[in-house]
Amino acid sequence: MKTVAHGFYQDPRIQEAKKLIRDAVKEHQKKITGVKPADPALKDEYLATLKKFGEQRGGPLFYQYLGSGIGNGALVELADGSVKYDFITGIGVHYMGHSNADVIEAQIEGAISNTVMNGHLQQNSDSARLVDLMSTQACKYGATVKNVFLTTSGAMANENAFKMIYQKRAGAQRFFAFEKCFSGRTLGMAWVTDKAAYRQGLPKTIDVDYIPFYCESDHKGSIELAVKAMKKHMTRFPGQHAGIILEMIQGENGSWVGNTEFFEAIIQVCKENNVSVFVDEVQTFARTHELFAFQHFKLDKHVDIVSIGKNSQVCATLFNDEHKPKPGLMSQTFTGASTQISASLKIISEVVNGKYLGKEGKIEQCHQRFKGNLEKIAAKMPGKLKGPWGIGAMVAMTVFEGNEEKTKAFTFKLFENGVLSFMAGGAPLARVRFLMPIVAVTMEDIDNVCALIEKTLSEME
Ligand SMILES: Cc1ncc(COP(=O)(O)O)c(C=O)c1O
Repeated sequence: MKTVAHGFYQDPRIQEAKKLIRDAVKEHQKKITGVKPADPALKDEYLATLKKFGEQRGGPLFYQYLGSGIGNGALVELADGSVKYDFITGIGVHYMGHSNADVIEAQIEGAISNTVMNGHLQQNSDSARLVDLMSTQACKYGATVKNVFLTTSGAMANENAFKMIYQKRAGAQRFFAFEKCFSGRTLGMAWVTDKAAYRQGLPKTIDVDYIPFYCESDHKGSIELAVKAMKKHMTRFPGQHAGIILEMIQGENGSWVGNTEFFEAIIQVCKENNVSVFVDEVQTFARTHELFAFQHFKLDKHVDIVSIGKNSQVCATLFNDEHKPKPGLMSQTFTGASTQISASLKIISEVVNGKYLGKEGKIEQCHQRFKGNLEKIAAKMPGKLKGPWGIGAMVAMTVFEGNEEKTKAFTFKLFENGVLSFMAGGAPLARVRFLMPIVAVTMEDIDNVCALIEKTLSEME
């Protein structure tokens, strides 16, 4: 026996409609072939809309960016008719690029389902498939984080992880986090994120003890420093640390990469002191050689909780049995839109089944191409570019010795010249970072973007 839905989704009219939409997308996106300036006829209206939008949202947008609604892979058309390379992808979200026909088709399947949203009381079978996919992939090398709680933002995925950890260790008030970490901006996460401006005026919610992050140029020293800092905090507040949040590659701080031995040393202290190990993979998910950064660093056996977001479209908290919440602790009206859930299934399946992961995968190939190009520019312009830094799909560079104002000016000029990037970190070590649309991007795109980076640097003193 088949359900009514089965017949509906297989209906030849639906199949034909999907095909027609795919064909139309492909036909129109073909017209987007490269970076292009704004159409003067659209400019005034565009600027007026941006101005009004800025006023109504309570502050201007970072970039003068309003998408038109179509793009072609790494290229995006803006509503003023200009075309730019999107190498920041909504801070790491549009992994399959702009107007990807498979993602659009997946969204159509979600859009024609019975409800706009799925929630904890009502989930369709796609949610069960998504949870199974996330769980299976997370546990494939022996991790025990097999339980999955879906949610709508990275910050919420982190909040949920904190709640589960605090409940398990009821009574323990404190948390460990890395200096300069970014964990989100809810009232809870604003006190974990290590940036004073992001919690200015907010009441204290979580007591966090910060430990220094890994330093590649002082491998042994930085391990000792971190362990020593943890022990000092634990001596000051005995039995008070419930968990540690590990951002294994610091994204918002400028793609600073951790190290297995470093994490192992920290985790050992955690295990000896009943401190739960929580990995924040909101930004790192699908950007290293493995789907999860904890897999890349081979820490599968040590991980208690993991959060994911961005590339996954639907965010989630994955946790082991020891961290199962008691009834009442967790629930939400929304887990995600039906379109989001089907798109998430498509994107994660593509990454897992395609040739993206591994030492020879596309993530690494893109990284090497980008890195190689930037190194050449750095050699040509030693005072203007340093680095590059990062790993996999996360690439960052320093311009003009990391001066914050100049770094910001560079990102604006690069935007004008046709590339979306973003600022990261802060004085005196500001960086420019890129989160590539790995599935869509071509080597030619990377070369073109690097040529525009060089042009922009040559235009600045
Ligand atoms: C490591 C990390 N954690 C959490 C978050 C918060 O995610 P969201 O903006 O979806 O709430 C981010 C967002 O940049 C992040 O990079």
